[in-house]
Amino acid sequence: MQVALVALAWVALAWGVTAPTSGTPAGARVARLAADFGIRLFREAAGRRGDGNAAFSPHGAAAVLGALQLATAGPSRHQIEAAMGFGINEPGVALELRRLRKQLGGPGQRLAAAEGLFVARELALAPGVITRFVHTLGRRPAQVDFQQPQQARAILNAWVQNHTQGMIRDFLPPGAAGPGTRLVLATAVYFKGSWLQPFPAAATRRRLFHKADGSTAAVPMMEQTAKLNYGEFATPQGLDYDVVELPYHGGAVSMLVAAPARREAPLAALAGALDADLVAAWAANMTRVPRVLVLPRFSLETAWDLRASLKALGVRAVFEPEAADFTALSAEEPLFLAQALQKVRIEVNESGTEAASATAAVVHSRMAPLEILMDRPFLFIVRHNPTGPITLCGVNGGPINFLWGRWGPTTPYGSHHPMRSQRGATTPMWDQRGPINPVWSQ
Ligand SMILES: *[C@@H]1O[C@H](CO)[C@@H](O)[C@H](O)[C@H]1NC(C)=O
Ligand SMILES: *[C@@H]1O[C@H](CO)[C@@H](O)[C@H](O)[C@H]1NC(C)=O
Ligand SMILES: *[C@@H]1O[C@H](CO)[C@@H](O)[C@H](O)[C@H]1NC(C)=O
Repeated sequence: MQVALVALAWVALAWGVTAPTSGTPAGARVARLAADFGIRLFREAAGRRGDGNAAFSPHGAAAVLGALQLATAGPSRHQIEAAMGFGINEPGVALELRRLRKQLGGPGQRLAAAEGLFVARELALAPGVITRFVHTLGRRPAQVDFQQPQQARAILNAWVQNHTQGMIRDFLPPGAAGPGTRLVLATAVYFKGSWLQPFPAAATRRRLFHKADGSTAAVPMMEQTAKLNYGEFATPQGLDYDVVELPYHGGAVSMLVAAPARREAPLAALAGALDADLVAAWAANMTRVPRVLVLPRFSLETAWDLRASLKALGVRAVFEPEAADFTALSAEEPLFLAQALQKVRIEVNESGTEAASATAAVVHSRMAPLEILMDRPFLFIVRHNPTGPITLCGVNGGPINFLWGRWGPTTPYGSHHPMRSQRGATTPMWDQRGPINPVWSQ
């Protein structure tokens, strides 16, 4: 039987789930809860995006939210703990996280995660913060001068680029960090693995890929005949789907690919059922069978604005300038979480997979002056103030053809410009895809 698997949206998943768990029950528990949180966030975020291509890093998101626990207090922190299912200060958790980090990687594959802490020079840190960061994350915060926004952005983006072997460049878009920024918590994950059994290059040829909208595209599809872990499952609603496991060298990491058995069945129905327990159930219920596996060669890059999805999981107070409680970080200045961004890139070919992700939480001062950025169509009026007559008025909609012209997709975050006004008309797409203006958007 030939299995044509067509679920591009899913592949980056396994990577967050199958990271080896540590030997102790506490370690396994923390790893499972973190994976579960990451997957629920993916489900939430992917649901907002529809059936398009999307890669996500559950591990990256969980690591940043875990670090955010260290900087918050009160309801801000309790909401994060509740969403994740564990508190990073619970006994044993810090030790287990350190141990988990050490276990990533192994022969034949590279899996590395790095945490970056960037604190504004002028921020008066609460006593004991540095010790807490060092104890839990194994890292001292680096001081950055956010009053020099371009320089600060260059430093952060260089850090991301370094820790993703160059796969993720220009991670923070212009405007994501500025004079109001007080803290950036970042995680970079890099993975490179060779298939235990590579696909023979000569077998790759163009075949039709059936898209969700019913159209087709001819794409290069790899093919191999092998004994593979394979299973047929059904969602509680009765949607049948197939899962196949592709192990990497070294044995610790696999890619799991899942797709509805019938082409016209929506992937979203499967995504809605996903959680860490389900992925564990797949692993427990697959059997090794000989198959001809056909899988597209592909690469994907996705940028996420995770704010709405985090709020949907109950993490709300940190985003509200009036309610956010960052007194665990600094009691001197009121702070709030302005951005939660992730960017993921994955490349899959005959020899294996190379993937990287960067995730960041950007914390701002509530006192910083708000930016006014008129980067969308605007109305202008020229008025003689003492007497009131309007000399001139008009609408500037941008250069002609601005959607695809020079104002086109200049950011990696899609064709929509990231900045927007709170009061301006916003579309759900902007909400989800733009890396957003930190100060206006909530
Ligand atoms: C990135 O790596 C280069 C070369 O190894 C090094 O010179 C530079 O300091 C690194 N930058 C950061 C931000 O880590
Ligand atoms: C997987 O197998 C376990 C028993 O090992 C069973 O309880 C469970 O229902 C199975 N799950 C699925 C999704 O088939
Ligand atoms: C697959 O991609 C990697 C980089 O991720 C590259 O080194 C390798 O040569 C590629 N293999 C094939 C068969 O294209």
